[in-house]
Amino acid sequence: MKNLIIFYSRRGQNYSDGGIKNLELGNTEIVAEFIKNAIGGTLFEIETEKQYSLDYYKCTEEAKEELKTNARPKLKNYIKTIDEYNNIFICGPCWWGTFPMAMFTQLETLDWNGKNIFAVVTHGGSGFGNCERDLIKTCKGAKLGKGLAIFGSQASNSKDEVFNWAQNTVKSLL
Ligand SMILES: Cc1cc2nc3c(=O)[nH]c(=O)nc-3n(C[C@H](O)[C@H](O)[C@H](O)COP(=O)(O)O)c2cc1C
Repeated sequence: MKNLIIFYSRRGQNYSDGGIKNLELGNTEIVAEFIKNAIGGTLFEIETEKQYSLDYYKCTEEAKEELKTNARPKLKNYIKTIDEYNNIFICGPCWWGTFPMAMFTQLETLDWNGKNIFAVVTHGGSGFGNCERDLIKTCKGAKLGKGLAIFGSQASNSKDEVFNWAQNTVKSLL
């Protein structure tokens, strides 16, 4: 069983623990690394050609506009195929209730038939929001398993939770 961990994560200013903080590593990036450490797999980072504003509030406005226009921002690199993977962990922040539009840019190019997929979402209170619903719509032919939602501010404390969840998830697939 091969695992692919696709993640989007934004470094820089973020809202955490009731204030604006400058994050060296994005919250989702931390969680994605924990998954890799727990079960192994290939990490793939989704990066947009155009950088979002490092300013938190400006970034939320840019993201809101992208959601409103159902944009598909161009990426620096694309995964061409997921043929060799069985389990794909789709990890990202909840932005205005769903994954950043850039995630859909990538997901829509792939053939999902027969894949096991899992939503891994870091958030500031919305939980999964519409992330799982939107994955089911996008990844046609895939089977959505039980995902994981983590408060962004708890990302670096979530190691045990992520390890247990990831290992149980993989065991349940054997
Ligand atoms: C553009 C933007 C929109 C966001 N929208 C939401 C939201 O709708 N619900 C929520 O709970 N948190 C929201 N947040 C907070 C992020 O989901 C949270 O901080 C997350 O852990 C960031 O992950 P990252 O550091 O990997 O990018 C938003 C943050 C940004 C920057």
